[in-house]
Amino acid sequence: MPRKRFDFAMQLVKNIGSELKRLEKAERIISYKTNELDLVTQFDLEIQEEFVRAIIEKYPSDTILAEEKGLSKVKPSSATWIIDPIDGTANFAHGLPLYCISLAYYENSNPVFGLIYSPKTDELFSAFHNDGAFLNDSKIMVSRRNNLKESIITIGTSTLSSMELLNLLHENVRRPRVLGTAALQSAFVAAGYSEAFIGYRLNIWDIAAAYIIVKEAGGKVTDWSGKEITPWETEKMLFSNGLMHKELCSLINTIDF
Ligand code: IPD
Ligand code: CA
Ligand code: CA
Repeated sequence: MPRKRFDFAMQLVKNIGSELKRLEKAERIISYKTNELDLVTQFDLEIQEEFVRAIIEKYPSDTILAEEKGLSKVKPSSATWIIDPIDGTANFAHGLPLYCISLAYYENSNPVFGLIYSPKTDELFSAFHNDGAFLNDSKIMVSRRNNLKESIITIGTSTLSSMELLNLLHENVRRPRVLGTAALQSAFVAAGYSEAFIGYRLNIWDIAAAYIIVKEAGGKVTDWSGKEITPWETEKMLFSNGLMHKELCSLINTIDF
């Protein structure tokens, strides 16, 4: 039953989240994955391991797709958990307090529920299919701002084209921001802290939970042409409150990515 899994996931994220919170001052050992920009710490691996161990113990026949330790190529099945143990690893590695845990549960590749926990602020964003989105115990909705000039728009990676986009947003919105954590940036759209998040070349584990949380909060998720997408289409994503979606797509499309 997905409901039982949701209750289990809530408790698990709270438990492992409070451990991550306690690690605030612990020394991070940084290693590199594919290149010097692709960081991982011992805690990314340990946190993932704890999730995997707990899920396997409770639901041994479920599938687990996760960022680290060779679990990133796993094919989804009828019951699949998708884990990003720490999203915003570079921030975490430096002690910058913008990072989170992202855990989602999918059935036949469709999102059923998602959880995003920010240890520094003790905020747990969650959503269950057709049940709305929550921040801790309170229901959340995307913001009602409908004017770019009054909006905060966050963007993802720092490629050259993203810098051009940043410049363009600088001229057209109240404040563009680059925060370094796709999951939390999306959750911020769901909570109405910002109006949109523009993601580029993401992976399913970055946004598996965010996708359902933003939608359940009344937001819109599309590619950069404005077409509704599944969470698996992670190349060019736009998460927004839905009120300036077209204008944002037009702005993004003036840049040659
Ligand atoms: C990264 C962050 C970042 C995004 C990258 C992701 P990680 O995830 O979400 O904001 O721009 O594409 O890989 O490595 O910190 O889990
Ligand atoms: Ca990530
Ligand atoms: Ca990660």
